[in-house]
Formats: sequence, structure tokens, C-alpha cells
Amino acid sequence: MTSSQATWWQSAVVYQIYPRSFCDADGNGIGDLPGIVSKLDYLQRLGVDVLWLSPMFPSPQDDAGYDISDYTDVDPVFGSLADFDRLLAEVHRRGMKLVLDLVVNHTSDEHPWFQQSRSSKDDPKRDWYFWRGPRPGMAAGAPGAEPTNWGSAFSGSAWEFDEASGEYFLHLFSRKQPDLNWENPRVRSAVYDMMRWWLDRGVDGFRMDVINMISKDPRLPDGAILSGSYGDGSPYYVCGPRIHEFLQEMYAEVFAGRNGQLLTVGEMPGVTVEQARLFTDPERHEVDMVFQFEHVQLDHGVDKFHPKAFRLTDLKASLGRWQAGLAEVGWNSLYWNNHDQPRVVSRFGDDSDRYRVRSATMLATVLHLHRGTPYVYQGEELGMTNAPFASISDFRDIESLNYYAAAMAGEGSGRPVPGDPLEDRTALPGQSGDGGPRPDEGEVLAALRRTSRDNARTPMQWTAGPQAGFSTAEPWIAVNPNHRDINAEAEIDDPDSVFSHYRKLIALRHAHPIVARGDFTMLLPADEQVYAFTRQLDAEQWLVLGNFGASEVPVPLADASDWAAAELVLGNYSEPDASGALSLRPWECRIYRRTVGSG
Ligand code: NOJ
Repeated sequence: MTSSQATWWQSAVVYQIYPRSFCDADGNGIGDLPGIVSKLDYLQRLGVDVLWLSPMFPSPQDDAGYDISDYTDVDPVFGSLADFDRLLAEVHRRGMKLVLDLVVNHTSDEHPWFQQSRSSKDDPKRDWYFWRGPRPGMAAGAPGAEPTNWGSAFSGSAWEFDEASGEYFLHLFSRKQPDLNWENPRVRSAVYDMMRWWLDRGVDGFRMDVINMISKDPRLPDGAILSGSYGDGSPYYVCGPRIHEFLQEMYAEVFAGRNGQLLTVGEMPGVTVEQARLFTDPERHEVDMVFQFEHVQLDHGVDKFHPKAFRLTDLKASLGRWQAGLAEVGWNSLYWNNHDQPRVVSRFGDDSDRYRVRSATMLATVLHLHRGTPYVYQGEELGMTNAPFASISDFRDIESLNYYAAAMAGEGSGRPVPGDPLEDRTALPGQSGDGGPRPDEGEVLAALRRTSRDNARTPMQWTAGPQAGFSTAEPWIAVNPNHRDINAEAEIDDPDSVFSHYRKLIALRHAHPIVARGDFTMLLPADEQVYAFTRQLDAEQWLVLGNFGASEVPVPLADASDWAAAELVLGNYSEPDASGALSLRPWECRIYRRTVGSG
């Protein structure tokens, strides 16, 4: 993609809805589609262009809907197909688009495809999944007899033994999420049929769950044991041998020749910049953009539950490399949050009363002014924070619960985490994953409080009232008690709120082509407190500054005094800076504009 070629999603902002936690219209404690409809005016006011719905399909909910048992219906807990059609019509009526989650690396084990597959070794659908006998020379079902040493993302082996047939099936995620065998053309064609079915119904595209894992090396070799007891299979399934072929086939079968403006974004743990350029090169017809994971793993130690100090210079190096790598060809997606990540204001900002609003707005500004398509995760636009989970009974997420169980049993599970199977290896607090002292519960809970996916999944905070206005019943996961101060009702009309700031950022993108398409140049790469970069389109140049700290800091740019005299487009302090110098107050952000020689 060169700067001169524009497509609609370059100036769009996507908003992710996690249906379970967004708004509960029928009062059963679980969010639903009619609840979403009731909040579309709010989303329209925010100004977002596209809504991405996390899965709302029928599901046993082992992994909160990412385990799908029927791809062409709606789980009754969320409503009906008629509710979906109404939601889609109401979204379209407001000039927005609706994108669905496509989860086709795996199905639920309760999907009829898998039920047939497991019914007999001779079933025509047997080969729709990965079935293998025990390791040669070992008895089926015996400890260590799994066909490979791969660990699953949610602790334990990636293989589940099936007593009835004496074989194992592969599940990179939970044992209720068997992996589909994309080598089988019938699997691919069934998936494409389903995708066309939704597009024909009017949906505007797909966010593709772990889509870079669909092509596995059919030999399924053992992986290297990095820590813990399981091997790292990711070299054999992350961006595997036929991944580009499969995505090109999907494009040809599903998207080619369709009128309308569609969006495809591939979730790709472990993807490199070079691979992303191939995936998003418009000439190659694969996907429009990818979610990469590098920047959300910079504070991970041996795994996500063992954090290490976050360094701003690492963030700049990483995001700067992605900006440069996709500057001429391809396109970035931009995100801090989603349903798998802890809340960004608690993670890279300061969620204390004093600095929450400033740091949330600074983080938003820095992200939204990068080149790429920004994604806002529900509640991020309110500055929602991590939750004060007190005991394991407060958690709901399978990854968190399984981690807790393994940790408390003193097992180093050594499994990859969905964040990035390439880099993340689980070890337990106080150990490297292969022995050592048992962790204490306090340490395990502290790790979960900081990184658990449930931080993102507490109910949307609509009001200061009971259950944050999310539901009239007790919600499936507790609301964050800070909803009394942090909620949509309090923020919508407050010009200095996080919500109002997101609104302004979205409006800036819509009004100024430089935000979507301007060239990006990172400045001050070695500065540990100031994030600084320019954008440039023709003779227009913008400077974006963010203070990642609570102390005042000068911005050591050679042309600082020129910039200090330039037009201030947006900041997060309403009082002007009296100093006249280019320095930033605690967690301050600023965007300046000037005109330069266009040479
Ligand atoms: C990535 C999704 O974002 C995550 O929530 C899920 O657990 C895994 N893929 C498995 O579908």
C-alpha cells in the first residue's frame, strides 16, 4: 500500500464488543444482542465506523464462545438469528459496519463435525481433525504416550486421548477445542460456505481467530522443550507451510468479486513484520491487516504470568519497526486492548485517581496517531481499569483457572499462551517450570490479577448504579466496584473525560487524511519517558508527544522551539502550558501541526 492508495478502512476505527459483558437486556446476568442494539446510539456518538463482535454463536462456552458448536446460528443466551438480523440492520442504519469473529482453527468438541469425526475411525469426517495413535512403542493412554510433546495454550498436553478409538486428537487450546485439519479440502470448503452464508446475510467481514495456525506441518514433529515439561510445537503450526495458499484460496472463494466494503483482520500470534507484509500486501489477496503481538508481550518474562519491567524504549523499538516494515506495502492494525489483554491504563499507564484520565488519554493519543487502523475495546474509551479480584472464585476464564490449578499443584505446564506460542512458556511463580519450590497462593493470585484475561471481561460500566447498569441480575462475572466513579453516564457529557478524548481522536482521523495516511517517523528512540513521532502528508507535518510518566519532562528535540510555537491540534490538559517551552506535564500528550517544505 503506497501513501497515495486509500482504502476505506485506513480512516476507520473499529470497536470490539465482547457480547457477554456489554449489555444485558433480558436480565439473566449475561450480555446479549438486544443489549447491544440498545447501545448503538452510544457507539454512534463515539464515532466508530466498524463493530467487531466476539463470538455469539452456539457454544458450550468452555472458552467463552471461542469453542463453537454451530457456525450458522446464535447462542440462545445471546438471542436469536432474528435478533442478529435486527442488530445488523440497526448497525447499518447508523452508517456503521459489523464484523464477526471467525473461529476456524478449531471447533467445539460438541460441533456435529467433531462428533461425527470421533464416532468411528472410518467415519468420512475422521480426517476433518487431527487423529493420531500413541507414540511408537507406547501403550495408548499411558502417561507420556501422546503423539507429540506439544503443550496446549491452556495448560497440559495438546493431545486428548479418546478411549473409544484408542487415538488422540489435537487441541492447541482447550480439550473442548479440537483443531480442524485444513489439509482436507472438504474442511476448507465447508468453512468457505459458512463465510459466504454470513456475507450473504449482510455482515461486513471477519476478524479471524488465530488464523496463522491453520496450516500445520502434517508430520507434526516434536518441539524443543524450552521450559516445563512440554515441547514447543509452534514452529510447526505458526505460519505453517500452506498458510498463504489457504488464505489466498479463502479470498478467492469467499471475498473476490463481492461488492461492498469488507474488512478482514487476521489474529496472528507470533507473526513477524516480514510475514505480515506478505499477509497484508493488497496484491496478494490474503487479509487487509493482522493483529501482531509483539508490543503486548514486552512486559512478559518467561511467560505472561511472570511479568518483567516495561521499558518505553522497547515499545518504541517494536512499534517503530512495525510502522517502518509496513510503510510501503501492507497495513498495521493498532491496539492496546482486547478481550485477552489486561486493561492498558493499569498496564502502561497509571490507574490511580490522580492520573487515570491523563494516562488513558495519553495512551489513546499515541496509539491512534500511529499509521494503521485503531481498535478500541469496550470500556477502553471510558478508561476502565483492571479488576480487584480477591480470590480464585472471582475468576471465570479457562486460561486463568487452568493456570491456577497447575500452579497450585506445583506443575510447570510449559504450555504456550495464546498471546504468543513462540515466546511464552509457562513457569510457575518461584520456579523456572522444571522444579523448585511450590508457589504460594498469594503469588499466583497476584500474577493473575495483573495479567488475567478476566480483567478485560468484567461488565461494561454504563452507570454508577447497581451492576453498573449492565444488568438487573447478578452478572456472570462481578462488576468492578470502581464503576461508581468510572462509567459512561458520567463521561459522555464531560468534555475532559476519556470518552470525549476518544471521540476527538476518532473525529481527527475522519477529518484529516494525514492521520490515516501520513508517513511515520519515530523520534527520540532512546528516551525512556517521552514518546515522540511525526506524521507527514505532502507539506503538512504533525508532531505527536506522550509523557509516559508522572514527572514533568522536557522534550529534547532540536526544533523544539519551532514546535512549541506551532498550532496545538489536541492535548489532554485544558490549561495551556505557560512555560512556552516544549515540555510535558505528568502523562501529558500533545499533537502539533505545522507546514513544511514538501521536498
Ligand atoms: C484467540 C482468542 O482471542 C482467545 O480469546 C481464544 O481463547 C483463542 N484464540 C482460542 O480461540
